[in-house]
Amino acid sequence: MGSNLYGVDLGTANIKAVSKNDGKVFSEKDTVAIKNKKEFYAYGDEAYAMYEKTPSTISVSFPVVNGVIADFANMQRMIEEFFEKNVKNHLKNAEFVIAVPTDITEVEKRSFYELFYKSKMRPKVVRLCEKPIAAAIGIGLDVSESKGLLIVDLGADTTEVSVLSLSGLVYSDLIKVGGNNLDECIIAHIRRKYSLIIGHKTASQLKMELGSAVGNDYGSQVIVGRDVVSGLPIEMEITSADVNEAITEPLNQICQSIKLILEKTPPELARDIIHSGIYCVGGLSLLHDVDKMITNATNIKVNLTSEPDLCAVRGLTNIVAEKKFNSLLYNLKS
Ligand SMILES: Nc1ncnc2c1ncn2[C@@H]1O[C@H](COP(=O)(O)OP(=O)(O)OP(=O)(O)O)[C@@H](O)[C@H]1O
Ligand SMILES: [Mg+2]
Repeated sequence: MGSNLYGVDLGTANIKAVSKNDGKVFSEKDTVAIKNKKEFYAYGDEAYAMYEKTPSTISVSFPVVNGVIADFANMQRMIEEFFEKNVKNHLKNAEFVIAVPTDITEVEKRSFYELFYKSKMRPKVVRLCEKPIAAAIGIGLDVSESKGLLIVDLGADTTEVSVLSLSGLVYSDLIKVGGNNLDECIIAHIRRKYSLIIGHKTASQLKMELGSAVGNDYGSQVIVGRDVVSGLPIEMEITSADVNEAITEPLNQICQSIKLILEKTPPELARDIIHSGIYCVGGLSLLHDVDKMITNATNIKVNLTSEPDLCAVRGLTNIVAEKKFNSLLYNLKS
């Protein structure tokens, strides 16, 4: 395999890429800023910094929605700029391996392929890999064994629950619930309860600092929002209890999805899962007490990992480096 080889995880919130050469991971917000409806103005962390702060001539949007590409043209422009910036001199004859969600349509998978294959980078080869398998390898699990593994990827727009065995997927269910939904619920709850309008970044910060998946108390925080009645900005103290009340519903949906997959899992594989526990990856698994919530719902222990949002992309590094993993990659002809 060539050395200009990159693994990519195009998430709803973040784009993460890894270079086979040195194993270096580069990541940015998966965000674009468009000026006057058509001019590509900024992307990545720079565009995200403008989110909810722009004048009416600039709009900030997220080209990946619910785990799939929703705005092909801007996503393509963004990856071209992203790779140009990070690995400018190493793009000739490049090869890309893209991690894709399992439970999406063939057309949606092809769109990931074409995004790279038809880009200005003119790559030599583009291959795909199922994201849950990449994530499992990223945690250091042996996916080739005839042993059941349950991987829960808690992302920004999606949660993907997958059962793996013998390097394949036995079941995979992608639900449209993730960290972004929790943010939306916090915004709606604070508006309803305190007539206070807050932005997505404030909501996300409240989720990370005060939120608990099992209702534990992580204190309080003074935030700034706009009072619905007066229209003026005011300060208000928000407590852990406020946040926890807001996020209960989407978290229940995540638990339901895990339980549903467990109900479908054949007993022999379920036995393995009970022994080894459930593996959580994705940024939302950093929410306080997610492990306790899943254990309460399933009676199965939960394994967390460091840098859970980078598991899939780290797994791609191992997959492209070792020949034995070759069969996990597949090609789509144009
Ligand atoms: N400490 C934290 N506590 C709670 N949530 C967190 C924390 N850190 C990150 N998150 C959330 O994790 C999500 C991003 O995770 P990740 O990068 O895995 O998503 P993604 O791969 O871009 O999305 P998807 O997999 O849905 O396409 C965001 O919703 C973010 O708010
Ligand atoms: Mg993800």
